[in-house]
Amino acid sequence: MEKIDFPLVKTAKVFLPLKNYVADSRYRLAAGLFCLLAVNLLQLLIPVVLKRVVDDLSYRNAMPSVLLKYSMAILIISLLIAIFRYVWRVCILGFSRKVEELLRNRLFSHLQKLSMSFFNRTKTGDIMARSINDINAIRMAAGMGLVSLVDGLTIGIAAIGFMVYISPELTALSLIPAPFIIVVARVYTKRMSKGYDTVQKTFSDLTECVREAFAGIRVVKSFVREDWTFEKVKKEGANYANENIKLARTLAFFFPVMTIFTNIGLAIVLFFGGRLAILGDISTGDFVAFIGYLNLLTWPMMAMGWVTNLFQRGAASMRRINLILDEVPEITEKSFQGDQRIAKGTITFSNVSFIYPEKTTPALHHINLVINSGETVSIAGMVGSGKSTLLHLIPRLIDPSKGSISIDGNDTCSIPLSRLRENIGFITQEPVLFSDTIKNNIVFGRVDISEEKINAALRCARIFDDIMGLESGMDTILGEKGVTLSGGQKQRLTIARAMVLDPPILIIDDALSMIDTRTEEEILNEIINMRRGKTTVIVSHRLSTISRSDVVVVMKDGAVIETGHYKRLLADDSEFSRLYKKQIMSQDIE
Ligand SMILES: Nc1ncnc2c1ncn2[C@@H]1O[C@H](COP(=O)(O)OP(=O)(O)OP(=O)(O)O)[C@@H](O)[C@H]1O
Ligand SMILES: [Mg+2]
Repeated sequence: MEKIDFPLVKTAKVFLPLKNYVADSRYRLAAGLFCLLAVNLLQLLIPVVLKRVVDDLSYRNAMPSVLLKYSMAILIISLLIAIFRYVWRVCILGFSRKVEELLRNRLFSHLQKLSMSFFNRTKTGDIMARSINDINAIRMAAGMGLVSLVDGLTIGIAAIGFMVYISPELTALSLIPAPFIIVVARVYTKRMSKGYDTVQKTFSDLTECVREAFAGIRVVKSFVREDWTFEKVKKEGANYANENIKLARTLAFFFPVMTIFTNIGLAIVLFFGGRLAILGDISTGDFVAFIGYLNLLTWPMMAMGWVTNLFQRGAASMRRINLILDEVPEITEKSFQGDQRIAKGTITFSNVSFIYPEKTTPALHHINLVINSGETVSIAGMVGSGKSTLLHLIPRLIDPSKGSISIDGNDTCSIPLSRLRENIGFITQEPVLFSDTIKNNIVFGRVDISEEKINAALRCARIFDDIMGLESGMDTILGEKGVTLSGGQKQRLTIARAMVLDPPILIIDDALSMIDTRTEEEILNEIINMRRGKTTVIVSHRLSTISRSDVVVVMKDGAVIETGHYKRLLADDSEFSRLYKKQIMSQDIE
C-alpha cells in the first residue's frame, strides 16, 4: 500500500496549476470527502456485525431478538452507506466537472493570447485533442482518481489495522501476495501510461487528417482525390485502432492477474486462518470478520493500479496542458506611460527586419518607410516579397526581429495592445467569416454600432443589395449550417466588417482579389471617399487598385526597392514598370 503514493507524490507537482480551482470548490470537495470517509467507516462496521453474529451463533447465544438486532444494524448501515455514497458522488463528481470547466476556460483564454507563431507551429488537431482528451483525463484524475486514492488509503489502512488486531501472524501471511501486486501494478501502469500517450498522439493525427479532408473537400472533389484522402484517413484510423488494441491488451492482462494474486491471499487465510480457528487462537467470528476485511482490501489493492493509471494519465495530460499554459505570448505588453493615442495614423518603419522562426533568410530586411497620415498607400511586389509580413507588423500580430515601428511617433510596443488593434482595421488576404448571422459577423461582438453605420459599411463594400436579396437579410446564418457566400461576397463582407468602425488606420491585404474590376473600382472610390484624412494601406496585385493611391511602395525579396507616385514610377525605368508591363499593356487596350 505504502508504495503507491510514491509515484503520486512525484506527479502531484504537475497538478499544482489546479490549486485555485480546487480552492474554488473547496466546500463541495470537503463535503464529498466527508461522506466518502463516512461510507468507508460504515463499510468497516459490516465485518464487526458479522463477527458478532457468528460468535453468538457458535456460543449458541443467538436469540431471535439478538438476530433481529443484527439484521436491523445491517439494514441501517446499508441505508446510511447508500445515502452517503449518493452525496459523495454528487459532490466529488460535481467538483471534478467544475475543475474541468475552469481549466478548459483558462486553456482557451490562454490560447487566444498566444502569438501567431504558436498557431503556425501547432496543429489545430493537437489543440482539439488537448481541450477534449487531456482535460477529460485530468477530470478523471481529479474525480475518480481522488476518490480511489482516499478510498484505497483509508479502507486499506483501517482494514489492515483490524486484521492485525485479530491476528498479526495471519495478517502477515495473507499479505504475502501484496509485494507482487505492487510490482506488477507499477510495471503495468507504466506500460499503460506509455500506451495511452501513443493513443493520444494517433488520435490527434487522425483528428487533423479528418479536419483537413473536409476543410479541403472542394479541392479533393474537383481533383477526384477521394480515394487518396480516404486512404490517408484509413491509415491514421488503423494506427489509432492498433494502438488502442495494444492498450486494451495490456489492460486485459492486468486485471485478471491482480485477481489471481488477491485470491491467493484468500486461499492462505482459508487454510491458516481456519487452523487458527480450530485451535481456538481466534474465534470463528474473527475468522469470518478477517475474510470480510481481506475482501474489503481487494478493492484498494486492485484500485492501486487503477489509481496510479488515472493519475499517470492525468499527469501526462496535465504536463501537456502545462506546456501550453507556460507558453509565453511573444507579443507582450510593457508598462505604459502617458496616454498614447492614435490620432493621425502616421506609420514609421525604422530599420525593420523580420525573420520567421525556423527560417534562415529574413522575410523583411532593413525596411525604412514612412506612411503619412491621411495617405492611401499601395504596396506592390511579387508573390512572397514580404507584403503581408510587413502589414502584420503594424497591429503587432508579429514583432520585428530588429528595428521598430511607430505610430504618430509612439513605438507600437508602448501602446496598449487592445488600443493599438482597435485603431487598426485589418482586412486579411483570406476572408474569414464565422458560423453566425451576417449581422453578428459584421458587428463581431462590438458594442455601440448603429444600424446606420452597418448599412453605410455594407453599401461601401457593395454588399448591401446582395444581403437584402437574401430571405432573412441581415439575420441570414452563414457557414456550415447556413448560406454559403461566393468568394467575392465573403471578401466584401470582411471589408464591411472593418469599415464599420472607420478606424484611423485601415489595412487591406489583397482583399479585393476576387471582386471584378468594375465593382472593385466602385468600392475603392467609396473607401477613398470615406477615408479622406485617414491612413489606408492597400496590398494589391492589380494595377487598377494601385493606380488610385497617393504613394506606391514596391517590394522585392523582403526589401522596399522603390517608392513614389504611380505615374512617376511608370515613367522611370523602374522595377515597378517591368513588373506591371503586361497589365499596363492590357489597360491600354481597354
Ligand atoms: N508563417 C510563416 N512562417 C514562415 N515563413 C513565412 C510565413 N509566412 C510567410 N512566410 C515567408 O515569408 C516570405 C514573405 O511572405 P509574405 O506572406 O509576406 O509575402 P507576400 O508578399 O504577402 O506574398 P503574396 O503576394 O503571395 O501574398 C515568403 O518567403 C514566405 O514563404
Ligand atoms: Mg500576402
